[in-house]
Amino acid sequence: MKRFLVEVEKMIPGGDAISYYNGKAVFIDGGVPGDRLEVEVVNEKKDYISTRIRKIIEPSEARTEPGCPYFPRCGGCQWQMVDYKWQLKFKKDIILDAFRRIGKIEQVPIADVIGMENPWHFRNKAQYPLKRVKNRVLIGYYEEGTHFIVDIDSCLVQLKQFDPVLRGFKKLLQGEPLTIYNEEKHYGKLRHFVLRGSENTGETLVVLVVKETAIVKSFAEKILALDPERIIGVVENINPKRTNVIYGPKTRKVLGRPYYMEKVLGRSFRVSALSFFQVNVRQVTRLIENMRDVLSEDYDTIIDAYAGVGLFALSMADRAKKVIGIEESTSSVKDAHENVSINNQFNVEYFEGKVENILPTLERPDLLLLDPPRKGLEKEVIDFIIDKRPPEVAYVSCNPVTLARDMRILVDYYDIELMQPYDFFPHTHHVETLVILKRKGF
Ligand SMILES: C[S@@+](CC[C@H](N)C(=O)[O-])C[C@H]1O[C@@H](n2cnc3c(N)ncnc32)[C@H](O)[C@@H]1O
Repeated sequence: MKRFLVEVEKMIPGGDAISYYNGKAVFIDGGVPGDRLEVEVVNEKKDYISTRIRKIIEPSEARTEPGCPYFPRCGGCQWQMVDYKWQLKFKKDIILDAFRRIGKIEQVPIADVIGMENPWHFRNKAQYPLKRVKNRVLIGYYEEGTHFIVDIDSCLVQLKQFDPVLRGFKKLLQGEPLTIYNEEKHYGKLRHFVLRGSENTGETLVVLVVKETAIVKSFAEKILALDPERIIGVVENINPKRTNVIYGPKTRKVLGRPYYMEKVLGRSFRVSALSFFQVNVRQVTRLIENMRDVLSEDYDTIIDAYAGVGLFALSMADRAKKVIGIEESTSSVKDAHENVSINNQFNVEYFEGKVENILPTLERPDLLLLDPPRKGLEKEVIDFIIDKRPPEVAYVSCNPVTLARDMRILVDYYDIELMQPYDFFPHTHHVETLVILKRKGF
């Protein structure tokens, strides 16, 4: 197989290390910018070459020893071989690259990425697939790009309270008649084991995704007994389809409460099995604090588009006469309504549906909060902003590529007041960015 020498140039959106060779882009699996490497060609196409490392000739100063024994087989993290402070630098470079290439914005007023003081044990949601191999049940994460499960007993990025529950559940399964789902044959019942929880309240919610209803109360009692202090409920989600999508449409409480409680900056949030919540609460807390520092003190109306269970809506509600949240997930909207009462914040109301359908029917808000999924803003949302021109817009993005695409349009009408990236996902290539926009001339 063809081999050659390269020096890794940079990380790009999607987390690949890249270099150039004979005019072609070279993707280097496991490479770190600054590495001098001998690589082997895995796949050569007209304009790029995929490679793997044969030999590290000279390691980059950004390289470090991965802390996790399952790395790099486990596909959960991609960057454990990169020293944490360098991860933050590479994430900033990825955003800058996207803004220049896709956003066509040269002068990017970007701040350094705000990293975590302790970038371990922060992830409040673990979704483990399972597989039976002979007499063993494997529970863990898929190897990158495959459906092979890397069986794990602990995870360095998930909340510490999850590890003993994972180990206990594995043991529990050995003696149970519950069948494990086999995706090739579409046979068996238990598909995913999901843990959600909060380090602030200490609560853990257990969600079992099954092909058909299968979780009896006596089994749920044994699960609860794995950590009776923290586990507040066991829920069954039924997904009968042959699909890679984890959750099905129906959820049933088996024992205890069907939601856990989270606490952020003094406000309480109920989060049900299928509702969205930010996975890194320590970091989103900092984002909300910064957002509140930079935004105005007083608003008539705020719209929180893509509202989830109302984290941003409720975190800003003390500054507005009225807050309107828009969210498409029925589960999240139900929690969002409950969270209004729990926090006695009755100036917040919600519309259930798609932002692109509902936003164009509303009046101009004084502040528009946007926190879309990875695909960014739909055309109708951009048109609403250009047409109604809210004086302030706060755009929270988990994808620098779609953020740059949307900002390319919005910078004609708005000045960037703040562009602050946060590391919500240490040891992965993902990065969250808060952009605060003020209408030109405002
Ligand atoms: C990144 S989350 C943000 C949630 C919330 N801002 C928070 O911080 O907890 C995006 C949310 O948008 C919802 N969503 C995705 N596409 C949507 C759409 N087109 N219209 C309405 N909501 C949508 C998802 O269900 C999810 O709750």
